[in-house]
Amino acid sequence: MSRFVLEQSKEGLHLADTFVRQHPLLIDFSSGQFNHRLRKVAIKREFIARAVGIKQGTTVLDCTAGLGRDAFLLASLGCQVTMIERSTVVALLLEDALSRALRDPDLSDIAMRINLLVLDSRRYLSNMIEVPDTIILDPMFSDRKKSANAKGEMQILQRFLGRDMGIIELFESAMNTQCRRVVIKRSVHDKLKLPREATNVLTGSSIRFDIFLR
Ligand SMILES: C[S@@+](CC[C@H](N)C(=O)[O-])C[C@H]1O[C@@H](n2cnc3c(N)ncnc32)[C@H](O)[C@@H]1O
Repeated sequence: MSRFVLEQSKEGLHLADTFVRQHPLLIDFSSGQFNHRLRKVAIKREFIARAVGIKQGTTVLDCTAGLGRDAFLLASLGCQVTMIERSTVVALLLEDALSRALRDPDLSDIAMRINLLVLDSRRYLSNMIEVPDTIILDPMFSDRKKSANAKGEMQILQRFLGRDMGIIELFESAMNTQCRRVVIKRSVHDKLKLPREATNVLTGSSIRFDIFLR
């Protein structure tokens, strides 16, 4: 039997890790904790909003969709977001979560501002026609502290996908576009040396954003 199982329940599509006693991964933008953050979000206070430099209608390309939290948060602040995910399983979970959000009167306006593409972002970036205001990258780094600290759903995602390969290549592909703002989100403990100096760095207690402007 395979370790990871994709199942449909009445709540939605979820990914279970049969080796670990833990709630399966179900992406739910209406869940208590996430919704609380959405309601409390204030543009000035939310770190990611400052990193992305958002104004109403800012277009964002999220090249590492994952659980879609950053994309959803940015869309809740008025951004038009295209998110890209290369794992077809994760993309199925995202699609399911987005379709539930579209049917939820409290979330549908936000979900309508999000578009999901399923492919490798490096390929998308090398043929990109419409240039977004900001590109954001949040790959799974190898940092052990981050893995140890990752909570709940992100832990399952890390076990399922492992470390993201091709991070530097992804970063260079983003930097080689005409986009004027590229942002990398990572743990403050991450040691990966990027091939370029950031224009600006926003550092919080656990997360930092390296911002590259042209
Ligand atoms: C740490 S998660 C992102 C979490 C996300 N920011 C959120 O808020 O939920 C990283 C995700 O990026 C995806 N990813 C990594 N490299 C990618 C690439 N080159 N193209 C598309 N997706 C990629 C991985 O499959 C994984 O799902």
